[in-house]
Amino acid sequence: MTTPILSLNNVSKSFGPIDVLHDISLSLHAGEVLCLLGDNGAGKSTLIKTLSGVHQPTSGTIEMDGAPVRFDNPRMASEKGIATVHQFGGTFPLMSIGRSFFVGVEPTKGWGPFKVYDRKRANEIAVKAVRDFGITRIEDGDRLVGGLSGGERQSLAIARAVHFGARVLILDEPTAALGVKQATHVLRIVNEAKRRGLAVIFITHQVMHAMAVGDHFAVLIRGAIAADFRKGEKTREEITDLMAGGASMASLEAEIEGYMASHDGHPPQMARM
Ligand SMILES: Nc1ncnc2c1ncn2[C@@H]1O[C@H](COP(=O)(O)OP(=O)(O)OP(=O)(O)O)[C@@H](O)[C@H]1O
Ligand SMILES: [Mg+2]
Repeated sequence: MTTPILSLNNVSKSFGPIDVLHDISLSLHAGEVLCLLGDNGAGKSTLIKTLSGVHQPTSGTIEMDGAPVRFDNPRMASEKGIATVHQFGGTFPLMSIGRSFFVGVEPTKGWGPFKVYDRKRANEIAVKAVRDFGITRIEDGDRLVGGLSGGERQSLAIARAVHFGARVLILDEPTAALGVKQATHVLRIVNEAKRRGLAVIFITHQVMHAMAVGDHFAVLIRGAIAADFRKGEKTREEITDLMAGGASMASLEAEIEGYMASHDGHPPQMARM
């Protein structure tokens, strides 16, 4: 087996008296998608914040290419090639596509005191990077990010990370607020990032999304790894039950789907009081 790009060894994280992560060991390889699953509050976001320098482990170690690393802040993680698209936003609605693509790393023309942001060049590069990922509806780099759809915005963030040489891409619920078509688009882009050799950590509550892209799955329950398995080792029903913390949810889900199929896609109504 090759050396993992990133590995966590017995990582725990507490906030004061609150223990959020317990003894997490996981490894991540280039060209692989690791799906991190688990119910609300299981510790998924805390885990990826620990990997991206927002938090530091209380105990345990993180290794990159087999050597121990320590990220005191998000910049240190990003300099090592870890790009994180966090759960809530992180984009700038009033910025243009070109601007937001280069925020912090603007290409300039001229020199010294004459340096100015090269808007035309920034737009060209940003639009090309996004289009290379198959988002051909974006043609104008002057458009505001706020006017993009949720899926386009996620795709822009992913294309940006790849363009600037990320080796590890961490996505915290990128498909959560998206419709079927947009979510499919983001999943396709995740596959493209993987094809380009990045290691991806993908967090989702949707089993079908996880199964569509995942090579490796880890289920967190109350801050501990409850299951760690590879593609094809578990059925959709087994994964659904694990994500619900072991409760038997799969049969309920199947029942609701069956109901919707026979009622024109309408969910069951609550009985009126
Ligand atoms: N800074 C903090 N201080 C104290 N507790 C925290 C802190 N950050 C997170 N927690 C707690 O850690 C637990 C895990 O939170 P986390 O956000 O990691 O869950 P999650 O798995 O991402 O959930 P969701 O699926 O809802 O996004 C929660 O109980 C949360 O309240
Ligand atoms: Mg979260």
